[in-house]
Amino acid sequence: MKLAGKVALVTGGGRGIGRGVVEVLVREGARVAIAEADRVVWTANQYWTKEIAGYQAAKALAAELVAQGAEVIAIEADVTKVAEVKAMVAATLRKWGRLDILVNAAGVITVNPVEALTEDEWDSIMDTNVKGTFLCCQVVLAQMKQQGGGRIVNFASIAGKEGAPGLPHYCASKFAVVGFTNSLAKEVARDNISVNAVCPGVVPTQMWVLLRRAYALPGESEDESYRRTVERLIPQGVDQTAADMGEAVLFLVTNDHITGQALNVDGGARLF
Ligand SMILES: NC(=O)c1ccc[n+]([C@@H]2O[C@H](COP(=O)([O-])OP(=O)(O)OC[C@H]3O[C@@H](n4cnc5c(N)ncnc54)[C@H](O)[C@@H]3O)[C@@H](O)[C@H]2O)c1
Repeated sequence: MKLAGKVALVTGGGRGIGRGVVEVLVREGARVAIAEADRVVWTANQYWTKEIAGYQAAKALAAELVAQGAEVIAIEADVTKVAEVKAMVAATLRKWGRLDILVNAAGVITVNPVEALTEDEWDSIMDTNVKGTFLCCQVVLAQMKQQGGGRIVNFASIAGKEGAPGLPHYCASKFAVVGFTNSLAKEVARDNISVNAVCPGVVPTQMWVLLRRAYALPGESEDESYRRTVERLIPQGVDQTAADMGEAVLFLVTNDHITGQALNVDGGARLF
């Protein structure tokens, strides 16, 4: 087991890609805190509601993994709120006394062209995807430095490498995550803290429940819309899995000399 003795904190880890990451980290022997929110500030997200029930999902997943013998806790935290981010890190440290790995997988999306985009949508996407990532990284640094190192992985996207119509706010947020990741990596490179991003292509989570509906052509079913979009975006012609993302995170957190990178896990969609 590659992560025996390590402690990881995964935001957005109750469902979707974050859940895939939690499962791989647990399989490799890490103790894992899953941070999720039940209620968020905006309705502008892939759940179309402020009541996103992420903490409920985190508690259910933690119970499932504990029953299998893993050491896992669920923590309620909205990553856009600094007090909750600080409390989330404090709760992890109270439980296990250390923090080796931070994975920022909490994220939100909506689809709208610039002229139709509302201020709420902009704020929701930027606050969660960018400010949330910044706050979580900022709050763990002191502990990682004191321990002599750490590993951080932020979820960006192929939308953080190239623009897309209907996603100006989401693309802006993911380009920001890539730039933030590279900057922080350089700041803490001498502290034995690596900071990388993973850029997924298409993973069939709640985000694609929203996207397949938004992209459906007149007369096309949501499933047809999804298959057509995967065909269009992904050279391999197939989607990726949450487990693929977990394996990419494992690769990055077990490597000593890869930092500042934004790794595409996208079936060939992007080069840079
Ligand atoms: N699914 C894809 O194809 C895809 C592609 C590229 C990038 N991504 C990125 O991967 C990450 C995970 O997305 P996903 O597809 O698994 O979506 P998802 O909706 O399944 O998971 C996102 C999780 O984030 C949580 N969350 C949202 N706002 C939060 C907040 N303020 N505080 C705490 N938790 C919050 C939600 O409760 C949810 O469980 C996101 O950053 C997303 O942008 C996904």
